[in-house]
Amino acid sequence: MTDTAWDTYSKQKPERRPTNAAGETTWFNWTQYPDHGPGAELLGIGPGASVLDLGCGKGGNLAHAAALGARAVGVDVSLAQLKAAEARWADAGLVLHRADAVRFLEETGEHFDAVYSVFGAVWFTDPEQLLPAVRKRLKPAGMFAFSQRPAIEDCYGCQASYINRSEDEDPLVVKRWDYEPERWVTILREHGFTAATARVVPSPPGPRKVGTLIVRANA
Ligand SMILES: C[S@@+](CC[C@H](N)C(=O)[O-])C[C@H]1O[C@@H](n2cnc3c(N)ncnc32)[C@H](O)[C@@H]1O
Repeated sequence: MTDTAWDTYSKQKPERRPTNAAGETTWFNWTQYPDHGPGAELLGIGPGASVLDLGCGKGGNLAHAAALGARAVGVDVSLAQLKAAEARWADAGLVLHRADAVRFLEETGEHFDAVYSVFGAVWFTDPEQLLPAVRKRLKPAGMFAFSQRPAIEDCYGCQASYINRSEDEDPLVVKRWDYEPERWVTILREHGFTAATARVVPSPPGPRKVGTLIVRANA
């Protein structure tokens, strides 16, 4: 487990705001920008659905799934992230597990209407290991969706991501997997997913130009 790296990340990552620009106390954000991009409608879930967040972090998106009436299950390797989720969303009814995503998927007996990941474990896990495990845990035609930063041109496959520490310490390194949108569609099809789509949602107007890759497919 890379829990030390992610516990370090947790200390640097600010809490989600109490409300979004629309004044809502829970909301879904697939992107790295506040109040931007699509919402939970991409998951196609309603009351009574069961959803699994892979790398749920501090639980903001999962709390919104719970507010929509879903059974909201989250898995994360980082104890610090999960403690923050428990503290912020104590009354939301989240079901949280501390585990590596692939291990959890292989060991749970539950099947889900939707499995998703927002800059989460899907980005930081070899898709060859992860995708078969996700597909086994989705109900028929269940939705798999994830978002992450788009690949840097010509930097595809396993890449190094750095989590900075103090000036006196080397950064911690975690692996991530980057592909072009069309390649993700092919990879998902190769693993038996259907109706795969992948697109880059542009950044909001302003100085930052990196958009958000959003990928969806059905089991
Ligand atoms: C960049 S954060 C994103 C957290 C959250 N999804 C959000 O949008 O704020 C990545 C999260 O994935 C978790 N993570 C990374 N690799 C994981 C793995 N293999 N299994 C489970 N969780 C993992 C980290 O602990 C961290 O909480």
